[in-house]
Amino acid sequence: MNKIKFQFIILITLTIVLNGCKKETISFSVNSPNENISVEFSLTDSGQPIYIVTYKDKTVIDTSFMSFDFKDLPSLKDNFNVASTTTDTEDESWKMPWGEQLEVRNNYNELIIYLEEQSEDKRQLNIHFKVYDDGIGFRYEFPEQDNLNEVLITDENTEFNLTGDHKVWWIPGDWDIYEHLYNETLLSEIDALSKRNHENLAATYIPENAVNTPVTMKTDDGLYLSFHEADLTNYAGMTLKVDTANLNMVSELVGSKRLGGKAKVTLPFNTPWRTIQIAEKAGDLIESKMTLNLNDPNEIGDVSYFTPMKYVGIWWEMHIGKSTWDMEGSQDMNTWTEGKSATSKHGATTENAKEYIDFASQNGIKGLLIEGWNTGWDKWLASADDREGLFDFMTPYADYNFDEVRDYAKAKGIEIIMHHETSAAPLTYEKQMEEAYNFMKANNMNSVKTGYVGEIIPKGEYHHGQWMVNHYHKVLVEAAKKKIAVNAHEPIKATGKRRTYPNAIAREGLRGQEFNAWATDGGNPPNHLPTVAFTRMLSGPIDFTPGVFNIKFDEYKPNNQVNTTLAHQLALYVVIYSPIQMACDLPEHYMVDDKVHPAFQFITDVGVDWQQTKVLDGEVGDFVTIARQERETGNWFVGGITDENARIQKLTFDFLDEGRTYNAIIYKDGPNAHWDNNPQDYTIENIELTKESTLEIPLAPGGGFAISIM
Ligand code: NOJ
Ligand code: CA
Repeated sequence: MNKIKFQFIILITLTIVLNGCKKETISFSVNSPNENISVEFSLTDSGQPIYIVTYKDKTVIDTSFMSFDFKDLPSLKDNFNVASTTTDTEDESWKMPWGEQLEVRNNYNELIIYLEEQSEDKRQLNIHFKVYDDGIGFRYEFPEQDNLNEVLITDENTEFNLTGDHKVWWIPGDWDIYEHLYNETLLSEIDALSKRNHENLAATYIPENAVNTPVTMKTDDGLYLSFHEADLTNYAGMTLKVDTANLNMVSELVGSKRLGGKAKVTLPFNTPWRTIQIAEKAGDLIESKMTLNLNDPNEIGDVSYFTPMKYVGIWWEMHIGKSTWDMEGSQDMNTWTEGKSATSKHGATTENAKEYIDFASQNGIKGLLIEGWNTGWDKWLASADDREGLFDFMTPYADYNFDEVRDYAKAKGIEIIMHHETSAAPLTYEKQMEEAYNFMKANNMNSVKTGYVGEIIPKGEYHHGQWMVNHYHKVLVEAAKKKIAVNAHEPIKATGKRRTYPNAIAREGLRGQEFNAWATDGGNPPNHLPTVAFTRMLSGPIDFTPGVFNIKFDEYKPNNQVNTTLAHQLALYVVIYSPIQMACDLPEHYMVDDKVHPAFQFITDVGVDWQQTKVLDGEVGDFVTIARQERETGNWFVGGITDENARIQKLTFDFLDEGRTYNAIIYKDGPNAHWDNNPQDYTIENIELTKESTLEIPLAPGGGFAISIM
C-alpha cells in the first residue's frame, strides 16, 4: 500500500436548523487523485444514506438515496449512524496477460463508511467508495454480524439522480438478452417497453421501463457519463429503472421466479461495484480501465494456453442459410424455424472443415470455429421446453470425422475452437462440463465458444439473474482448472472479471453481425458500431465477428445485407476490441479469381493483442477512430468507422517514433462507396508515414478505413 494521504477527505459539518431545533449533519467527501471528481456522502435526518457526485464543482449526480429491501426482514434504509470511516489511497500498476494495453494504472482514493442501525439489532452496512480520475465506483459491504446472517434481497434501491435531461444511448433492461439495437433519445423519452417481443429474439423479458448497462449519456455541458457495474459475482445483474419525469434512475436487479426475489446472499457479502464513468471527451470513456481496476487481480495464474488470434469458422454459412447446423436438414436459418429444408446441407462436414483449414493456413489465420459438429441440432430450435440432455458435447455427426479434422488442423498449424451450444439448459451443461473439457484438452483444444439461445430452463430463471450469474462464473472457474478459455454468447454482461479470470476472453452480449444475416428489421444500421464502441464496448471484449466482404450476399438472402462498406468491416478489427477476431465470411467470398481478395491482407496483418490503445477521435453514435500498437512487433494499426453520414477524418501521427519512416497501407472507401448503393467499392494505397505526417481520409456513408503501419 502506498503512502496514505489524508487531505483528500474532508469532513464537513453542516448545522441545519429544522423546526426550531438545531441538528448537525455530518458529511464525508472523497476526491479523485486529480481532484476533478468529488463524492460526498451523508445521512438524512432520518438516518438514510445519500450521496452526491460533482465534477469540477458542478453536480453530476444530485442527492441520491441508497437502501435495501428484504424478504421477511425490515429494510436496511434509515435510522443509521456513522460508526466510523476509513480512507486510503492507491497508486499501482499491473499487467494485462492480453488486452488493449500492457500496463494498467490503478490510482484512486477511497472512503469506507461504516454504518450501524440505531435499533436494537444494530445491523451494519458499509458503503465503500473508490474515486478515480475517470469516474467512481461504490459497493455495499454486508459485514459478518450477529443479527443478520442470510438475506433474500427483494430490491436494491441505489439511485442515480441526474441533473438534466441528458442525451442517452440505451438498450432496454431486458432480463434475458442484450441483443437490442441502441436507441438515442433524451432521458425523458426512454421507452423500454416499446422494445418488447422483438420477433428475432429467442428469449426476451422487459418488465420495466429500465435500461441495461453500460448506458452512456451526454449532458448539455458536453460531459459524458456512463453507468455500469464491476465485479458482478454471486448477485443479480443490475438494470436501471428510469423515472422519465424526475430524471432519475434506480437500480432494478434482475429477478428469479424460483427465488421469489433478486438475490440470496450469506454474510459477509459485498455487492458488485456501481460505477459512473465521467469524461470530457467521448474517447476517454473507451480508454478508461476503471471497471477492470475494480476487480480483483488474476486468481488463475498463467493463461498462456490461450493465444490471442484471428479465426475463421463454419458459422456465417449457417446464418445466411447456405448450410445448416444439423445433418438431418430439418432446421433452416432462412426461416429461423424447423422443418423447411428438405435436403441435408450440413455445414460441419469433414470436407468443409478441411477447406476452411486450408484457407486459414494460407492466409495467416490461426483458429477455426466449427459449429454443428455434434449431434442434437435437429431438435435445437424445436425443443421449446424439453432441452435437457439435447447436446452432449462429445458425439460428432456421422459426416464429421472428428479425429481426421483434428489431425489435419494440427498438421496445418490451425487450432480448432470448440463449440458448446447449451440451448440455455445450464444444468445439462454443468453435468457434462468436466467430461466435455477433458475431451477438448485430449484433442488439442484450448478455447470454447459457449451459447445459451432460448429461455433458461429451469423456468423462472433469466439469463441475467443471480442463478445464471453463478452458472457463468462456474463455467469460468471449471474451464480455468482445465486451462480452457471461454467466449460466451448469450452471456451475462462483462463487468471486468477478465482481470481475475483472464480465461474469460470475449463474449457476445450485443447485437452481433449475425443479425445482418437474418433480422427482420433490416439488420444493424450504419450507426450501430459507432454507438457500440461507446456503450457495450466499455464493459469488455466483444466477439462481434467482423469481416463480411460479400456485403449483400444476394445469392442466399436477397432481403438481408450488411449495412456498412467493406472498408468499415476492415476497420472493425481495430475499433472493436477482442483478443479473438473472426474473419467471418465464407472462404469463397474472400477469393477473387482464385486469388485472395487484396483487402484481406489487412486481416492477415492486423494485430489482436495490444501494447497500447489511443482513441484518436470520435462522437457517440456518429464515428470513432482508434489506433492500437501491437505487442512484440510494435506495429500500429488505425481503424475508423462512421455512421450513415460521410465525413472526412483528419489524422495526425504523433504516436509514431521520432525520426522513423514507416510503410503504411491505407484501405479506404472507394470514391463511389456507399453502404447501400456501392458497399464493396474500396481502394488501397501505399504511403510512407512519419510522426509529422497528416492525412485527411474521406469516409463514405456507412464507411470506414483501416491503416496498417508496419
Ligand atoms: C447464437 C450465437 O450468437 C451464434 O453465434 C451461434 O452461431 C448460434 N447461437 C448457434 O449456437
Ligand atoms: Ca446471439
